[in-house]
Amino acid sequence: MFEALTEQPPDGILKLMQMFREDPRETKIDLGVGVYKDANGKTPVMHAIKSAEELLWQEQTTKSYVGLAGDPAFADAMIALVLGQSVPHASVAAAAMPGGTGAVRQAFELARLANPDVRVFVSDPTWPNHLSILDYLGIERVSYRYFDAATKGVDLDGMLADLNQARKGDVVLLHGCCHNPTGANLNAAQWQEVVAALQKTGATPMIDIAYQGFGDGLDADAGPTRAVAAAVPECMVAASCSKNFGIYRERTGILMVTGADRGLNQTTLGFLNRQNFSFPPDHGARLVTMILTNDSLRAEWQAELEEMRTGMLTLREQLARALQTASGSNRFGFLAQHRGMFSRLGTTPEMVKKLRDDHGIYMVGDSRMNIAGLNAQTVPILAGAIVEAGV
Ligand code: LMR
Repeated sequence: MFEALTEQPPDGILKLMQMFREDPRETKIDLGVGVYKDANGKTPVMHAIKSAEELLWQEQTTKSYVGLAGDPAFADAMIALVLGQSVPHASVAAAAMPGGTGAVRQAFELARLANPDVRVFVSDPTWPNHLSILDYLGIERVSYRYFDAATKGVDLDGMLADLNQARKGDVVLLHGCCHNPTGANLNAAQWQEVVAALQKTGATPMIDIAYQGFGDGLDADAGPTRAVAAAVPECMVAASCSKNFGIYRERTGILMVTGADRGLNQTTLGFLNRQNFSFPPDHGARLVTMILTNDSLRAEWQAELEEMRTGMLTLREQLARALQTASGSNRFGFLAQHRGMFSRLGTTPEMVKKLRDDHGIYMVGDSRMNIAGLNAQTVPILAGAIVEAGV
């Protein structure tokens, strides 16, 4: 039977990870996969996570199943973290998922269950795995304009024109903050225009928020998600704890659904979990819950997260300045305006390949750079290579 299988397309980001590992050059620089790195190039376990793990080791008396939706305490803590006071918590259905990707996949499945003809509107560009999962599930996708190649910001007019083509029964997938792959984000006034388009068309927003705390701060980054949730009758929010808690491999995420029949939404989420993987992973979710509900652990976590965020901002500013010096122009100033882990440099795949071949600099083919992959030593090296290559 398996001889009938055909080769599936490789995931570009994961393929790049592999290529980087296999490159013997000591001077290579990894700006590929979206994993936070400190100044030493390490992705350490956060202290707050270590402390919570120690406590958990002492306190936990069983590893028996929890529930199809995970621990309700995790849902409560995450609803508060992401949605704040934007909607009554009792109206939110939520279930733990294996990572942000698990939540995204389940959101698509939920939408398809509700409307087998659902179309999902996706930003151009978006995280490639959004597209891959939609294609795999056989869900129709419609692109909406997003990145303006000239300004390296958001093409708001194009975006609104395209979103106004959506209709009730469609899903509009939005990045809550720190747009992946571009780093270009809407401001609060522009978000209000998106909200107005959602209200006008009746399409259901689905917000993917994987980098809360990496942009302008925990509350600021959640602002758009809260504004959308408060303004529309129903929405889906897929949140990841991978990056802001640094627990990538623990697969910790959550899908939240606001909307009229909370009970039905909740049992449907449990049903979908049962069909796909039964009980969601618990370890990461439990650590997150412990941190969010314990004042001192939370303060420790927030301080660590803030250090990561400001470190990335500093790197952005350093890179923009180094490029200004090296190129004698302001054309890279957008790097300091972008937010989150990524920025799209805005060059060709050929140029991306040249930077990799000639300088051992690894960025995703669409010229997405993981800013956290830089440090004070590599910033001028990257700036020099970018200018030398003629970007
Ligand atoms: C990324 O975009 O690099 C991250 O979200 C990691 C991944 O799974 O692709």
